[in-house]
Amino acid sequence: MKLLVVKDYEEMSCAAAKIFKDIITEKPDAVLGLATGSTPIGLYKKLIEMNRNKEIDFSNIKTINIDEYVGLGEENPKSYRHFMNENLFNHINIDKANTLVPNGLAEDLEIEAKSYDKKIDELGGIDIQILGIGNNGHIAFNEPDDFLISETHVTNLSQSTIEANSRFFQSINEVPTMAITMGIGSIMKAKKILLLVKGEDKVRAVKELLNGDITTKNPATILKLHEDVTVIIDESMEDKG
Ligand code: GLP
Repeated sequence: MKLLVVKDYEEMSCAAAKIFKDIITEKPDAVLGLATGSTPIGLYKKLIEMNRNKEIDFSNIKTINIDEYVGLGEENPKSYRHFMNENLFNHINIDKANTLVPNGLAEDLEIEAKSYDKKIDELGGIDIQILGIGNNGHIAFNEPDDFLISETHVTNLSQSTIEANSRFFQSINEVPTMAITMGIGSIMKAKKILLLVKGEDKVRAVKELLNGDITTKNPATILKLHEDVTVIIDESMEDKG
């Protein structure tokens, strides 16, 4: 695992964007694994800027998102599909047909989840996966538990995640309690993984990832088994140990 310590969030977003640019330049039809949350917004802003300046071209790029709330569709401003449209897809020259987000309104959620991994395989796998991390170590919506699920699946959200994500909703009662999420195995199949860490509430989870053992109680620790992971933190986090 490679650790990159940067000055601040701006530098973190620039460093991540540079890694994405290099991959897209080398492989113009790359498959990008994307995530939501506040962490990757800076990266997406940089990618939009680079696209505007013609430094990167998304016309042959395909994207796959790691998760979506159950019960929320594209029209709902809190859905992850809506988030992706607003924060990236609407502002770059990507064909929306090439952007995949789990369908939280699918009639049969189990079938939706099962077919998702197949779709990823059909695209030839993910070239680079961007990840944020929850304060309890969750990645995508793989929550701390006694066991972790490998494939894309439907899951209940933990109370701490519901609380953490309630900041995006009017009230905690509006936060969906279920999601479709890529599994740990689906994420680990990505050729390259880039984990961005933003926020002091992540210090404990990241310390465990960098210095601790692999445990299902902190799903991010499984990333230690991947051969090409870069973790980007900022200096303030390093000061906290
Ligand atoms: C959500 C998402 C995760 C994300 C996490 C952290 O729960 N499912 O993919 O990493 O939030 O969000 P933030 O970046 O806002 O701290």
